[in-house]
Amino acid sequence: MKPTARISALLALTASAANAATVPRLPRDIPGIGDHTMGGDLSSIASWTLAALAYGAIHASNSTSELTYLCQNFAPIGPRWSTAFPEPKGDVLKFARETICKAAETSNASPEPLWKNNLFWMKSYMAAIFTVQTYYGDLYNNTYLFNMCWYVESSLLPGVWAPCKDTEESAVDAESSMCARSGYYMKDPLFQYTNATQTQAVKGFANQYVTWVMQAALRVLVDTEEQVEYLCRGFSSRGKGGYLDGVSDLGLYAATFFYDYCGGTERGVWEVERAKKHLLATMTDLFTYQVLLAGNAKEYPKFLCDGLKGDGLAKVGLDGGKAVGTVCAVANGTKKVGGDTCAIC
Ligand SMILES: *[C@@H]1O[C@H](CO)[C@@H](O)[C@H](O)[C@H]1NC(C)=O
Ligand SMILES: *[C@@H]1O[C@H](CO)[C@@H](O)[C@H](O)[C@H]1NC(C)=O
Ligand SMILES: *[C@@H]1O[C@H](CO)[C@@H](O)[C@H](O)[C@H]1NC(C)=O
Ligand SMILES: *[C@@H]1O[C@H](CO)[C@@H](O)[C@H](O)[C@H]1NC(C)=O
Repeated sequence: MKPTARISALLALTASAANAATVPRLPRDIPGIGDHTMGGDLSSIASWTLAALAYGAIHASNSTSELTYLCQNFAPIGPRWSTAFPEPKGDVLKFARETICKAAETSNASPEPLWKNNLFWMKSYMAAIFTVQTYYGDLYNNTYLFNMCWYVESSLLPGVWAPCKDTEESAVDAESSMCARSGYYMKDPLFQYTNATQTQAVKGFANQYVTWVMQAALRVLVDTEEQVEYLCRGFSSRGKGGYLDGVSDLGLYAATFFYDYCGGTERGVWEVERAKKHLLATMTDLFTYQVLLAGNAKEYPKFLCDGLKGDGLAKVGLDGGKAVGTVCAVANGTKKVGGDTCAIC
């Protein structure tokens, strides 16, 4: 299940016009508007998270024998994932399994294309997850989605792992999805954007959050000591076939990954309930950070605080209450986001 673009019917514009901008804006087109309505639910998110991890693993291992091993041993590493999200529908493992096995086959035939596109696909799945989680902030409310369409900025999204199609870093377009899903297809003066981008510090914190999510996903997935040792050996062996370079190459924090996962007292299989809680927490932190930094209009945090529904976010693998609490704390000035020294504090 690749993130699919679905042409949806043109709906009448019912949403109210958003407030005037408080930041400089430039006119800009939404590319291929109407092509971008992404569908998805908790099962998709379970599947896409694993797919992102699979592309990360493909990139980190960077060797055909690793991929062949992963493909052949996928069945034993699967069962815990199926329980990681409440009530997923269908086989949430199938997609990632096929991704890895196909990559193993392709790289046997010709190694070249495999190494190029991993980050692109990993980002595409991360953008798909963010998009669907954002819908659930207030599902079926076109006014909310229309305002999100207006607030989020395609120049800001790539820096927080939710790139848009027009930055050519993703096959998914988070922003256009929100616009099209709210029924807003028109290109007119409302579509004015800043050209602001994220600071290096913000990008660094976003990379850190994604590192934690991927590590947490691995904690859920891995259920034997043998697998842990296999992974940690892969991390320890530097150079060709070692994972550290590949992980860094994705923008993730390889050393953090290695020391948290393989170092000290936390090495080893985590009890599944603990691993699931940890995944929920890390996904919540990532989403909260992404959504807060997806727009830069002054009133945007307040809009999010008023608009986001915790119970909706809970339906897409998040701690909705915590996410809304953090967003509201930023809106009322108790917490700050986007600074250089800490992510949200
Ligand atoms: C829909 O969203 C808008 C903007 O966030 C909000 O003002 C309105 O109350 C919401 N409608 C419902 C039915 O929750
Ligand atoms: C953003 O737009 C402003 C105003 O047009 C311009 O001065 C500035 O150079 C642009 N910045 C980037 C990074 O393109
Ligand atoms: C992955 O392997 C290919 C082929 O052996 C090599 O050209 C490339 O530099 C490697 N990439 C990394 C990140 O190690
Ligand atoms: C700000 O929002 C947070 C989260 O909703 C809340 O706990 C806190 O009491 C609020 N503080 C002020 C000063 O309004």
